[in-house]
Order: sequence, then structure tokens, then C-alpha cells
Amino acid sequence: MKTSSPNLAQQIRDSLTTKWLGRTIHFYDAVESTNLIAIELAQEGEAEGTVVLADQQLGGRGRGDRSWHSPAGVGIYCSVLLRPKMVPAKGQLITLMAGVSIVKAITLKTGLSPRVKWPNDILINDKKVAGILLESKVSGEQIGYSVLGFGINVNNGSADFPQGMEFNASSLFLELNRLVDRSTLIIEVFAELERLYHQLQGEDFLEVLEQWRYYSSTLGQRVRIWQKDRATEGIAVDLAEDGGLLVRAEGGKQIVVHAGDVEHLSIL
Ligand code: BTN
Repeated sequence: MKTSSPNLAQQIRDSLTTKWLGRTIHFYDAVESTNLIAIELAQEGEAEGTVVLADQQLGGRGRGDRSWHSPAGVGIYCSVLLRPKMVPAKGQLITLMAGVSIVKAITLKTGLSPRVKWPNDILINDKKVAGILLESKVSGEQIGYSVLGFGINVNNGSADFPQGMEFNASSLFLELNRLVDRSTLIIEVFAELERLYHQLQGEDFLEVLEQWRYYSSTLGQRVRIWQKDRATEGIAVDLAEDGGLLVRAEGGKQIVVHAGDVEHLSIL
């Protein structure tokens, strides 16, 4: 359900509550991928907090070489440039922070009950409504920059999804039966991101970990984790301090998973 968007960037600028995140917004009607543009800006030395936002993506990127369907006028396609002072091993916490921020913003603005699925999905009623793609440049023991990209299916109607995708994906509009204002949702995500990012930068990881556990749909589930073509099964028992997923594998051995695609097999 396409809504008019000529002033999306202006509406955001007018009501933004953050100090630095989103104070510079590069807005495009259509781009290949906002992450690609933000990576270019990062390499040119653009400041932390700069945002790239588009009304449509023609080659939206997802995790693991997948694409992110990004039709015009209905979704949020956004990339935030960060220059985190943290060791690369803690980088996953940025993805978790983004998941918590998006879930809290959706909850506040719609009353829906989204949940995070490790590591980068946001689900409502077990269907994906948002995804996060963190792309970082690491030099030695430092993160040079991180581009935090997120896509939210906001006002997509059924016809805005490719055939078959409606079984696994949904939108806020479809779950709520009313249109949702994209600018107020983005403003809320930015406010929460800025607040939680300050905590991570101060090496205070507790709130991100606790909130992620609270909003998790993964913990307590029987899961299958795909790493390349290898699958491991077990129970997702907790989050590790670095944002990895703690799994009790068959035989009782606990492992920490740092990458992979997670399938939820059943609710315990
Ligand atoms: C995933 O769930 O696989 C991650 C999807 C991330 C999509 C967003 S939309 C804005 C940004 N630009 C991209 O090309 N991808 C991310």
C-alpha cells in the first residue's frame, strides 16, 4: 500500500530527537542499496551518525548473499554509518542493539509484539517484518567503520511481496490493518539506537543483552543452525556476553555460535 513520501527526509529532520545520529541524511528516491552508498561515504571519511535512506532499492542486500525486496513507498531502507570503538569480536552486539531498537520502536508506535530472532531478524507472529545487515571494515584489532543497514516492511500490502514470500514475511500494515507513519517509526529507532550505542561505546553491554533476551523468540527453542552446508541441532539456552548464541547441542555439550542461519524447530 504505497503512501506518498516526498517529504520523508524532511519530516524526519523536523522531528528528530537525537544529538548526532541522523543529523545528516542522504535521501534518495531509488538506489541499488543504501548499504553500498554508506560504505562509499565511510571510505570517503564521512562522520559517524550519517544516514542513507531510500524510498526504494533496486538491489537491496540481505545476509548471506540474499536479496532484500525493497518496493517503492512502503518500506524503510536505511543505513547508519558508525565508527565503533570496540574490538571486532564484540561487533555482533551492534546487530543485537539494532534488533532491540527496532523491536522497541515498533512496539511503541504500533502496539504490536515483535520479537528478535538470532541474529538479525525481527518477527511478528513468526513472520519476518524486518532484517538487519551489518557490514564492517576491520583493520587489525579495530573496527574502521560499520554500516548498520536495516529494512522494515512497513506498509507493504500482500501484492508488494513476491509470490510465495507471504508464508514467511509480513508487514506492520498486514499485522495491524492500518498504515503506519514511516517517519515517526524511524525517529524512534534512531533515538533508541543512539541511546544504546552510547552504552556499548562505554563498554556497558548489560541493557542490550538483557533487552535482547527479553524480546527473544529464539531462546528456549529447539534450533537447527546452518553454517555453510553443516547443520547443528540443539536448544538455544542463552546469549553469550559477546552476542553469540549459546546452544546445548545433542549429548549435552554447550557451544557458542557466532554465525549462521537459525531455524526454529519447536517451542519447548
Ligand atoms: C536480512 O535480513 O538478510 C538483512 C536485510 C537488510 C536489508 C537492509 S535495507 C537497507 C540496507 N541496504 C541494503 O542493501 N540492505 C539493508
